[in-house]
Amino acid sequence: MDHPPSDWGLAARGALIESGGPRTPFDITHRDLVWAEIAPSLYSHAASAQWNPDTEVQWNADFTLPDEIETAVVQVMTYLIENEQAALVIPAQLLARIHPHFREVLQLLAVQAADEARHMEVFTRRALLRRGEMGTSSVSGRESLATLLGEADFSMASFLLSVLGEGSFLNLLEFLDKNAPDPVTRQVTRLARRDEARHVAFGVAHLQHQAELDPSLRSRLRAAVERRYSALVDTSGLNQDVFDSLVILAAGEWTPQAIGKGYDAVMKLQSEMDDGRRRRLVHLGFPGDEAADLSALHTRNFM
Ligand SMILES: [Fe+2]
Ligand SMILES: [Fe+2]
Repeated sequence: MDHPPSDWGLAARGALIESGGPRTPFDITHRDLVWAEIAPSLYSHAASAQWNPDTEVQWNADFTLPDEIETAVVQVMTYLIENEQAALVIPAQLLARIHPHFREVLQLLAVQAADEARHMEVFTRRALLRRGEMGTSSVSGRESLATLLGEADFSMASFLLSVLGEGSFLNLLEFLDKNAPDPVTRQVTRLARRDEARHVAFGVAHLQHQAELDPSLRSRLRAAVERRYSALVDTSGLNQDVFDSLVILAAGEWTPQAIGKGYDAVMKLQSEMDDGRRRRLVHLGFPGDEAADLSALHTRNFM
């Protein structure tokens, strides 16, 4: 049903429901606000693709890294954990607001939250693996994530988090997989990336579904990006420690020549993130020039 009544509550879809009874607090009750045709099959795929952090990662792999490289890994993991926490809390909050009649969407978001819980776990274990200490968290990073947490509209939150943020993270995780200095870092980023691809796919599919039915959606998405950009305009963007760590990981060693190469690799990463965002925006029906403008306004914190 497109708009199930509030007093259907938690009844199973398809049950013969006795009329009356208490109203429920779910405020997202229209099918088109949450649905995507791909949701049931994406849920089945997600359920079958769950992995065990204990056995899928070789935690006791034998490796020793130079101090500055280990510091860079720890810093990047610290940053990833903070972003994963936002990626867990946001779908969990949205899930609890959706009418259970659209159960596949709830199931999909529940597994998505479980994915993020695993990402938090493996990144935390890698961060603490050698030294038992975390890196830094910056105000600018937390400001960026606060604007995501404050987005009350399901479609806007899904757009900012899944299409733009997690979309950019696909490139970041690929970069970390490629430049990982040890097998544990490589395995945890590779496993997380596989899950993230599903999160992005649902965000894009659901917004595409909605854009077809509601021609005003794109202007609202545009406004959400611009609003977030204005809120963050006075912040410094990506934590400088994270930027430097990405450069060092791509450099692989502490020499001026290698650092130059690492810097170029991080510039290339940022341009690949931009390409990916523009491609997804065009997929949602934005003309190319508008997609480029919007991608450029995306938070420099990546998420
Ligand atoms: Fe994640
Ligand atoms: Fe995710």
